[in-house]
Amino acid sequence: MTKKILVTGGAGYIGSHTVYQLGKFGYDVVVYDNLSTGSASAVTNGELIVGGLENKKFLSHIFAKHQFDAVIHFAASISVPESVAQPLDYYTNNTCNTLNLLQCCQIYGVDKFIFSSTAATYGEPKENPVTENSPTEPMNPYGRSKLMSEQIIRDYSRTSGLKYVILRYFNVAGADTSGKIGQSAKKAEHLIKVACDAALGRRHCVKVFGTDFPTPDGTGIRDYIHVEDLARAHIDALRYLEAGGDSQIFNCGYGRGYSVREVIDKVKEISGVDFSVIATMRRAGDPACVVACADKIRQMLGWEPKFNSLDTIVRTALNWEKKLIALAQLEKTLAEQNFKLGVLLLEKQIISAAELEKFLQEQSANGMKLGELLVQKGILCQNHLESILKEQSWRKKGVWLKLPIAV
Ligand SMILES: NC(=O)c1ccc[n+]([C@@H]2O[C@H](COP(=O)([O-])OP(=O)(O)OC[C@H]3O[C@@H](n4cnc5c(N)ncnc54)[C@H](O)[C@@H]3O)[C@@H](O)[C@H]2O)c1
Repeated sequence: MTKKILVTGGAGYIGSHTVYQLGKFGYDVVVYDNLSTGSASAVTNGELIVGGLENKKFLSHIFAKHQFDAVIHFAASISVPESVAQPLDYYTNNTCNTLNLLQCCQIYGVDKFIFSSTAATYGEPKENPVTENSPTEPMNPYGRSKLMSEQIIRDYSRTSGLKYVILRYFNVAGADTSGKIGQSAKKAEHLIKVACDAALGRRHCVKVFGTDFPTPDGTGIRDYIHVEDLARAHIDALRYLEAGGDSQIFNCGYGRGYSVREVIDKVKEISGVDFSVIATMRRAGDPACVVACADKIRQMLGWEPKFNSLDTIVRTALNWEKKLIALAQLEKTLAEQNFKLGVLLLEKQIISAAELEKFLQEQSANGMKLGELLVQKGILCQNHLESILKEQSWRKKGVWLKLPIAV
């Protein structure tokens, strides 16, 4: 029987890549997302339910409606500097809301849980590469909010049938190699995204936060993992739990670090643009060097990365950013036409321009709505019409590509 998976935060960057792969592996997916940073267009598979984890009543209703086999929990706030400025928001959204989700798992008997954790739980490592047994001493509220969530999951698991896999991601970057999805959040501050923006003329410069770290070139070193490899780790983790695997924590990285300067040079090389780079002070809570030891996930889950190259990471990220610019232009054109149903049908190549003109004439002659007319003629089925109308309303609200075009 098809397994049904609840994916919180599935409209976000990493969640959407995982949702796409879950579809390829035949899982039935329900995405639960408040679209605060995610976008509706990123959900390429399954059903999107727009809701917040803080809404326990609605969340519980979703659990009651569906019989979930497992939960993959991505939804969170993810900015380290923002967490330093607004710690309570981070403990609420990341820690308290994880608790809400676990309580639903308890009530509705869901016993498999995959959690998005982070290398930020380690803080400034005493040794690199970092193993899963390295001390966890987070340096900022973001890392602490995630570590607390881990502790809650582990404590609950000890007294229940819940089995978990906690994945501690290192620095996630790149975009789907087929160009379908990528990082769309407008406020994203990840280095590779920011550098691509600079290469494409969408920002004036790239700031380097700290050039006096104890590293060979003085800038911070991180382990960058391609988002598709990371998405695949979730499929592997799910299969592991389905096969009766015990609860585990795994690092997700490649075990190779690149400095900020090396990453910037790679973006300049691939884009061919020599954008300006400005050295500034270190940010609060930024460690000098964090590189994963990922032996455990390879050995226990058989995880085999396919895109282990900075070149591929930067190339896919850059291609995605170029596509986003084109999509934004299209969205602007559609917004000028107020996302009329006919225009969306043309965009989706469901009808031709000549057919649209004919149907619009018929529609005004008999007073029907265009959608109703197309259903009556068998060009659209009722379900398809409803999904296009839903998309139309999301696009009007600007949650489609997260563009500032709400009307
Ligand atoms: N991006 C990274 O480099 C990285 C590194 C380590 C860990 N992580 C973790 O991975 C997960 C996903 O990160 P991402 O980069 O895809 O971020 P993202 O912002 O793109 O995705 C988060 C998603 O969660 C949704 N969301 C947030 N709060 C919600 C709430 N209260 N209710 C419902 N939906 C909510 C957002 O709308 C968004 O779609 C997070 O848990 C993050 O802590 C990310």
